[in-house]
Amino acid sequence: MNARPQDFAARALTREELEAHWMPFTANRHFKNKPRILSHAKGVHYWTADGRQILDGVAGLWCVNAGHGRKEISQAVAASLEQMDFAPPFQMGHPQAFDLANKVKQIAPAGLDHVFFVNSGSESVDTALKIALQYQRLKGEASRTRLIGRERGYHGVNLGGTSLGGMVANRKAWGPAMVPGVDHLPHTHNLAKNAYSKGQPEHGAELANELERLVGLHDASSIAAVIVEPIAGSTGVLVPPKGYLQKLRELCTKHGILLIFDEVITGFGRTGSAFAAQEFGVTPDIITCAKGLTNGSVPMGAVIVKKEIYDAFMTGPEGAIELFHGYTYSCHPTACAAGLATLEIYEKEGLFQRVKDIAPYWENAVHSLKGLPGVVDIRNYGLVAAIEYEPIAGAPGKRGFDTFLKAFDEGILVRAAGDITAMSPPLIIEKNQIDQLIETMGKVLKAQ
Ligand SMILES: Cc1ncc(COP(=O)(O)O)c(C=O)c1O
Repeated sequence: MNARPQDFAARALTREELEAHWMPFTANRHFKNKPRILSHAKGVHYWTADGRQILDGVAGLWCVNAGHGRKEISQAVAASLEQMDFAPPFQMGHPQAFDLANKVKQIAPAGLDHVFFVNSGSESVDTALKIALQYQRLKGEASRTRLIGRERGYHGVNLGGTSLGGMVANRKAWGPAMVPGVDHLPHTHNLAKNAYSKGQPEHGAELANELERLVGLHDASSIAAVIVEPIAGSTGVLVPPKGYLQKLRELCTKHGILLIFDEVITGFGRTGSAFAAQEFGVTPDIITCAKGLTNGSVPMGAVIVKKEIYDAFMTGPEGAIELFHGYTYSCHPTACAAGLATLEIYEKEGLFQRVKDIAPYWENAVHSLKGLPGVVDIRNYGLVAAIEYEPIAGAPGKRGFDTFLKAFDEGILVRAAGDITAMSPPLIIEKNQIDQLIETMGKVLKAQ
């Protein structure tokens, strides 16, 4: 498909028009000097406003898992909007919210069977943190107020997630607004020992013991929860070392600390299982998710909690609100319709299994880039991979950004995470399209 809808994005935007939109996580002045405008999308492709076809190597932003332009989703969304544009989520319900919660529960790890809907990954994280804190109070452990994140973690941009995250550029401007009582585990990235790992790296399980050190420092009775991404995505695809997540689980259980997996990227098939929790055989107490829940089509996120947590809230007078938290657009009917249609596609097309089937091909393809100029590491899991570069002296991040720009000029969309290129294509990508993605990356890297 390359027909461009005539009424959409066909004209060039003036510089003045570009200025009105303050773009998120974007080098605004750089972009507006040479804009990259997308006009439409289908399957594993975008088309630019000036008619170029772009192979989508990142599923939009790690979210369009079933590929672009899925009619099943747009039709479900249109029908839902026609039937009921909005329903108040507080003290009222609508069937699609309950249906979607049950569908999510069915594919979630056993025991995680209550779903709270939000509108983004950031909201899912801040919601999970609030649930964790109130849960500890309800259990009579109100002293457990401390929250533990991890260096190089990304948990969105709300104040809780920003505080728990471990990316300096995302944190440094907001010092006093950061949530107090937060500490961080060390990250697990170790190029000296684990460079060019295929799948889970061998070295680093012992880094989970740092939680024991933090318990020694603060005392377990002061710690409510630990939050980690099973695979850290935004800081460049950091796959957990073998045994690391298991060890973290053991220590959290031992010390009465809740374990939260932020599965905003890893949820809905990216690893080859519905959730990374199942893939790695480690069950957290809470999962946060978003993105792939609606195939990126309508903003939506969710917090999935284990029964004990939900049950702890369901006490007190029956007429009392149990959790003073929620959003006007929690479980929005349009988003629920998109979510239901999306989960049906995943199931019907066996897309999670498809990841397992194609992952070995993907692994071989990405590792074929070893030895190209500037490359210092390649790593992968499921349908996600990263290529890491030696930074240019005095200009950290420049090589990663330049690679992203050149790749786009060559017709592929990848993601720059500092001096790392991350790739996470739609789960429907074919082998010949993987070849195109990797060959183009090779061409870009050779031309450096
Ligand atoms: C692990 C993780 N958590 C949270 C978020 C934030 O999600 P959102 O951008 O939908 O707020 C992201 C976004 O990439 C993410 O990767």
